[in-house]
Amino acid sequence: MPLVTTTEMFKKAYEGGYAIGAFNVNNMEIIQGITEAAKEVNAPLILQVSAGARKYANHTYLMKLVEAAQIETGLPIALHLDHGDSFELCKACVDGGFTSVMIDASHLPFEENIKVTKQVVDYAHSKGVVVEAELGRLAGVEDEVNVSAADASYTDPKEVEEFVGRTGVDSLAIAIGTSHGAYKFQGDAKLRFDILEDIQKRLPGFPIVLHGASSVIPEYVDTINKYGGEMPGAKGVPEDMLRKASSMAVCKINIDSDLRLAMTATVRKVFAENPSEFDPRKYLGPARSEIQKLVKHKLINVLGCAGKA
Ligand code: G3H
Ligand code: 13P
Ligand code: ZN
Repeated sequence: MPLVTTTEMFKKAYEGGYAIGAFNVNNMEIIQGITEAAKEVNAPLILQVSAGARKYANHTYLMKLVEAAQIETGLPIALHLDHGDSFELCKACVDGGFTSVMIDASHLPFEENIKVTKQVVDYAHSKGVVVEAELGRLAGVEDEVNVSAADASYTDPKEVEEFVGRTGVDSLAIAIGTSHGAYKFQGDAKLRFDILEDIQKRLPGFPIVLHGASSVIPEYVDTINKYGGEMPGAKGVPEDMLRKASSMAVCKINIDSDLRLAMTATVRKVFAENPSEFDPRKYLGPARSEIQKLVKHKLINVLGCAGKA
């Protein structure tokens, strides 16, 4: 099976009241940990590459690693560009074999967001590739972009139909209170499910995407802090909120920070227990296994997509 688009995945996820996990990938161990977990539980997958990941690991290396994972697992896997910031970057990924791209022009005024999104949609669709866009603005840190809570804004449900209608986009990322990174909430986690519900009523059947959806698993933060890290106040989206979103119109849930925490906590523990270790397989191997364990848990208990491949 070649890499697939998200069209079929989202249709089934919407109808079945579950979500597909979209996991950020940067290297071989991360790809293997995620895809082996999905193979264990027979789940469809979205592997996503940010501009930073593409710069770090190289387009062709990531493409070939993901193709290898598809061959090894036989699963439906979509390869997606995360937070594409220009038509040129989206085009390069479409031309380079990705099956899905995100154009994130959410920082631009409404009309300009529509204009660049439509340009990407027209090109991607002509090549059989699907497009995710964003309306509203998440807080948090992603690569070089740091959006403060004051600059973040919830998605306005009244704008959604016009945006989707005029751009022809295939899915839409919305801002309902999640944010990127490991410090999402001060105090209790709050998500605006009323906004999600309103959007779902206006566009029944249309797939919605939730970014910034790591739970910032406390055990990993504790391990990092135990072995010399300093992450006080790290906090993520509670799992029951993600389950609720998955049962609604949210068909794609983005997770990166939890993978980073799993990997970092594991590597710190290995070095704390054996400060003389110098074989990369002895710390990257356990990190890969921890990612597999974490992703398996997410697929079964949070996203509800186990057995849906
Ligand atoms: O939303 C952003 C993802 O966590 C990717 O982060 O741009 O540092 O690769 P990155
Ligand atoms: P987290 O930082 O919550 O993992 O969000 C990742 C994300 O939205 C990638 O696009
Ligand atoms: Zn994101």
